[in-house]
Amino acid sequence: MSNEVFEAARTILAVREFEERPVPDDVLGRILEAGRLTASARNGQPWHFVVVRERDGLRKLGSLVRTGPYTANAAAAIIVAYEKSTGQYGLSDASRAIQTMLLVAWGEGVGSNWTGFGGLENVREEFAIPEAYDVLAVVPLGYPRRKISGKKKRKPLSEVVSAERFGQPVG
Ligand SMILES: Cc1cc2nc3c(=O)[nH]c(=O)nc-3n(C[C@H](O)[C@H](O)[C@H](O)COP(=O)(O)O)c2cc1C
Repeated sequence: MSNEVFEAARTILAVREFEERPVPDDVLGRILEAGRLTASARNGQPWHFVVVRERDGLRKLGSLVRTGPYTANAAAAIIVAYEKSTGQYGLSDASRAIQTMLLVAWGEGVGSNWTGFGGLENVREEFAIPEAYDVLAVVPLGYPRRKISGKKKRKPLSEVVSAERFGQPVG
């Protein structure tokens, strides 16, 4: 039986090079909707997503996020912020929303990646995000420039899974 969710989890890879063509608004809408629908601690939904489509804004993000300069060439990007007051829960909730959006984007044929990790005060200020929020990450989006069919580099299952108690191999 095919499981599309597993297939997305199995095949998704970070995409850092994008085609020039735009991502249609309905596709972007589904990606954002997936973020909105994500579950959160106590259903707090402490996130805010700023979708950036204008080239000037994308270039600005590319220059502000040191580890994601390629955002300048993306078709769009989503700035993911969460209410600082929610602390670790907010961090977890926003991370989970990012993962949902990355998977749904992948399901649409759109490549993306997670760039940056918190403390992106420069992004917060530039995009008029209130001080009560921490910017966790910027997610560039676009159709992959090259066919992405790489093999995931991951530790073997036997190294990261135990049965019943830590260190006991799974049969
Ligand atoms: C929390 C987190 C932060 C990341 N930060 C960056 C980043 O700042 N820049 C970047 O290019 N990739 C970033 N990545 C992408 C990872 O480097 C990438 O997912 C990982 O190397 C595995 O590669 P794969 O997704 O292609 O399998 C981040 C991923 C995560 C989960």
